[in-house]
Amino acid sequence: MSVTSTDHKGFVKEKFDFIVKRYDLVNSVASFFQDAYWRKRLVKSLGEIKGPLLDLCCGPYTLSLEILRSKKLTLYALDLSFEMLSFGRLKLKEYTPYVFPLKGDAEKLPFKGESVEAITIAFGFRNLPNRKEALEEFSRVLKKGGSLLILEFSLPKNVLIKKLYLLYLKYYIPLLGGLLTGDKEAYQYLAKSIQDFPSSEEIDYLLQSTGFIPIKVEKLTFGIVTLYHYKKA
Ligand SMILES: C[S@@+](CC[C@H](N)C(=O)[O-])C[C@H]1O[C@@H](n2cnc3c(N)ncnc32)[C@H](O)[C@@H]1O
Repeated sequence: MSVTSTDHKGFVKEKFDFIVKRYDLVNSVASFFQDAYWRKRLVKSLGEIKGPLLDLCCGPYTLSLEILRSKKLTLYALDLSFEMLSFGRLKLKEYTPYVFPLKGDAEKLPFKGESVEAITIAFGFRNLPNRKEALEEFSRVLKKGGSLLILEFSLPKNVLIKKLYLLYLKYYIPLLGGLLTGDKEAYQYLAKSIQDFPSSEEIDYLLQSTGFIPIKVEKLTFGIVTLYHYKKA
């Protein structure tokens, strides 16, 4: 791993550690409550699965909980930030027996090969500095035919909507995030990381070149979020 990659992970972890208490609130307000709908779409795409499922970059279990509300299965929830895992535990309540929290790096999974039926990652893939290596790692851990579902921000194709969205990212997100969490820089990073993230065509190329087979690529809410549903061959 390069020094840059280590520094990046340290920076990301520090930011998420700091904003943990207001993380869900900022997401809901900033997205005008669309974020719950985006996660529900991912859960719907999962279809009938028995598990185990691995939810990467799980944060305070926001997607993990959405999955468990509709499916009772063994769910491993992994995140780099201990603060996120620890704070989020308060929300697990009756789902505690199904969830196995793990502090770790999504690029180096503490699992043996072909051990999980599905991998989900909501708004975390963008934060990984070595995406090709991460996908190879996901592929190693997935059973044959297993599902990979990535929910991630993207930029709208429509020129006018894109212009408005870029203004929203530049001004509204840091202002709102800064006011609610006290860490404006974390939300400036969010805005920049969304703009720097590859297009859905590039992500599709990356996924297919790692051996994943496309099932569906779905644009949500004017294309500000994309749901990638792929399978391991
Ligand atoms: C935007 S949050 C997403 C949380 C949750 N999945 C959701 O739906 O809201 C991104 C999470 O990724 C975690 N993260 C960042 N880099 C990571 C890495 N290399 N390995 C594991 N988790 C990581 C952060 O600590 C943070 O909790």
